[in-house]
Amino acid sequence: MTDCPIPSGTSPGAPRKRLLIRTWGCQMNVYDSARMADVLAPLGYAPTEDPAEADMVVLNTCHIREKASEKVFSDLGRLRETKKERAAAGKATIIAVAGCVAQAEGAEITARAPWVDMVLGPQTYHRLPEMVARVARAAGQVIETDFPADDKFDHLPEAGAPQGPVAFLTVQEGCDKFCSFCVVPYTRGAEFSRPVQSVLAEARRLVAQGAREVALLGQNVNAYHGEAPDGRVWGLGRLLRALAEIPGLERLRYATSHPRDMDDDLIAAHGEVPALMPFLHLPVQSGSDRVLAAMNRGHKAELFRRVVDRLREARPDIALSSDFIVGHPGETAADHDATMKLVEEVGFALAYSFKYSPRPGTPAAGAPLQVPEAEKDARLQSLQALLRAQQAAFNADCVGRDCDVLVTGTGRHAGQLAARTPWLQPVHFTGPASLIGGLARVRLTAAHPNSLSATLDVQEHAAA
Ligand code: 5AD
Ligand code: SF4
Repeated sequence: MTDCPIPSGTSPGAPRKRLLIRTWGCQMNVYDSARMADVLAPLGYAPTEDPAEADMVVLNTCHIREKASEKVFSDLGRLRETKKERAAAGKATIIAVAGCVAQAEGAEITARAPWVDMVLGPQTYHRLPEMVARVARAAGQVIETDFPADDKFDHLPEAGAPQGPVAFLTVQEGCDKFCSFCVVPYTRGAEFSRPVQSVLAEARRLVAQGAREVALLGQNVNAYHGEAPDGRVWGLGRLLRALAEIPGLERLRYATSHPRDMDDDLIAAHGEVPALMPFLHLPVQSGSDRVLAAMNRGHKAELFRRVVDRLREARPDIALSSDFIVGHPGETAADHDATMKLVEEVGFALAYSFKYSPRPGTPAAGAPLQVPEAEKDARLQSLQALLRAQQAAFNADCVGRDCDVLVTGTGRHAGQLAARTPWLQPVHFTGPASLIGGLARVRLTAAHPNSLSATLDVQEHAAA
């Protein structure tokens, strides 16, 4: 961005401005928030957690379910008061709504919350400095929710250093699948893959800055089809193999995937790339073929079972996580039983389950045979009880295993370290702070509902 006017008061000697970014939703939004902070840093914005001292507040929103988008409006109500109080003290506040609610409900936001200064969709973050300048010149509300032809990745500055040994890297955005219930194709636009070179360069930089684990992100990450320097198109399996060659990059993950895009090469990569962690989030949504068809998922339950079997053949210790929706329009008690049966057969280490929430503009929202709320509640409860039991069983089964964990920081108690297992479980153990940022060899000793305890393999670390 060469022609962007820098707002006044941001020269190197000027007092720092404060920026508060609140993030809802998926890891993609977490990544985007970090990039927005990177874009605004050269304008003098430093982070704060306190709305009262924030010169600019960005709400990076999620539209996936109704609850998530309603929270934005209640937050905006509170921010209106803060903005008034700051104005009374002679301080201006820029309020921005970003993310998928901004994309989907831009006009409604400006109508319902006229104190919002700017509304910007996920593809326009590279234009933030220009928008801030326009607002600073009191140009009124600014709305940017187009899907621009230029690529935001070409215009954003390089990502800042990762906060710890885990870094997120967006390789793909958008979705062309149009599941009946989902807003993503409307809010994030068509599928787009970043070129291979740009992904590899960002990964190398992240590793040079201390990342040991890189998690590749995309709404449909395994549909990745990035252009390579040789002019060919690489799939995700090929990309993972190339990333695994980067010295110092010890762990790779990717999310979120679609069962239909688990191609042969990607499945094989799970067996052949040791850096690829034995944990995969693979949403299936339902175990009933009737509901899967109504959801426009483009596959049957059998395909999901087959993909899981092949993944387990390739990587016997792989653990699976998934997403489920109960109460999609037309779902019967028998359909729900089919979902329960699939869960029992597959066995999940972790899962997220939701009551179907009609999203305006999506095909399912207007469909007949909406499932009564009480029925959705009952189905969600039975499914969650089963999934909780499976998670507890998986965690219990891990006790006694020796494994490498990635140490992300200190734990809650003195001398305690916090880490992640290969299966993404949080784990705590006693050890020296010098281990933070790297891998440690531990024995898993106890399972709790959402985490594990471990002991450090002292011999291994004494020898090192
Ligand atoms: N209602 C309920 N859950 C939904 N999800 C997406 N859209 C909806 C909706 N309208 C869930 C899906 C998806 C996860 C991110 O959110 O399970 O995989
Ligand atoms: Fe939404 Fe995922 Fe379906 Fe795309 S594949 S429409 S992101 S649920």
